[in-house]
Amino acid sequence: MAGFNSKTCVVLLGIFALVGLASGAKFYDLFQPSWATDHFTYEGDVLRLKLDKYSGAGFASKNKYMFGKVTVQIKLVEGDSAGTVTAFYMSSDGPNHNEFDFEFLGNTSGEPYLVQTNVYVNGVGNREQRLNLWFDPTKDFHSYSILWNQRQVVFLVDDTPVRVHSNLEHRGIPYPKDQPMGVYSSIWNADDWATQGGLIKTDWSHAPFVASYQGFDINACQCNDTVAWSDNAKKCSSSAERQFWWDTPAVAELNLHQSHQLLWVRANHMIYNYCTDKSRFPVTPAECEHHRH
Ligand SMILES: *[C@@H]1O[C@H](CO)[C@@H](O)[C@H](O)[C@H]1NC(C)=O
Ligand SMILES: *[C@@H]1O[C@H](CO)[C@@H](O)[C@H](O)[C@H]1NC(C)=O
Repeated sequence: MAGFNSKTCVVLLGIFALVGLASGAKFYDLFQPSWATDHFTYEGDVLRLKLDKYSGAGFASKNKYMFGKVTVQIKLVEGDSAGTVTAFYMSSDGPNHNEFDFEFLGNTSGEPYLVQTNVYVNGVGNREQRLNLWFDPTKDFHSYSILWNQRQVVFLVDDTPVRVHSNLEHRGIPYPKDQPMGVYSSIWNADDWATQGGLIKTDWSHAPFVASYQGFDINACQCNDTVAWSDNAKKCSSSAERQFWWDTPAVAELNLHQSHQLLWVRANHMIYNYCTDKSRFPVTPAECEHHRH
């Protein structure tokens, strides 16, 4: 028995070591600055992006992906962040692009950050939801993830699902699954809309506004720029020869525990849902009828 246990331990340690390596990826392995390199600073494994009255800053993944999970740990702007938006998102290119967004809307000191999520399908967004969080996102790093497969897009905060966008193609509703997507983040001034609907402007005397990042992790199928979308889609989909983890039943839908978590988030932390905004959408958007979550 003892022998069996220690052997099992060695195997488990091996697995944990591998997982540790994958999630310990450095910024430059996966990403590159896309604008305002002079507004980036590094300190050990922590990357900081700075917004001042001259510029914000942003970064982009070096590669595009189809399906998988992307995660980054962010510590949002401390103190007064009113008027600022920090975003973490996946997006494809072109006018008919798809996009999965986390947007963190700043606030005055002591007032809560809001998290806005949105989904664009074939160039059309207008699917905003807004949440407050069950912790102060400016005090510590928290992980924000997007899980994407052929069945669902799931937005997670510290691995708690906060939104699910399901594939309803069988009901004639388009689902984003044809276009390779990059992974992006940026901080910028959006004081025309971000805080209390644009009433509160950015107080530049409190600049620079700094968002900190660590724990970059992309566990997804890397696409090849030189081949057609459809060939990438094929390469990134399971077949008789191989099964990718993102096509397994475990991630085809939320499990019972996750469904309960999502219900809890919606009951206690959701403050806006486009699905129930009758003034914007007198006719409820088609996917809302079917998105139980
Ligand atoms: C900012 O704080 C106010 C007051 O607590 C709140 O109503 C608002 O939703 C918060 N967030 C934003 C982005 O305005
Ligand atoms: C991308 O595809 C082309 C054409 O099939 C191939 O020559 C090239 O090696 C591929 N590159 C990578 C990084 O997979």
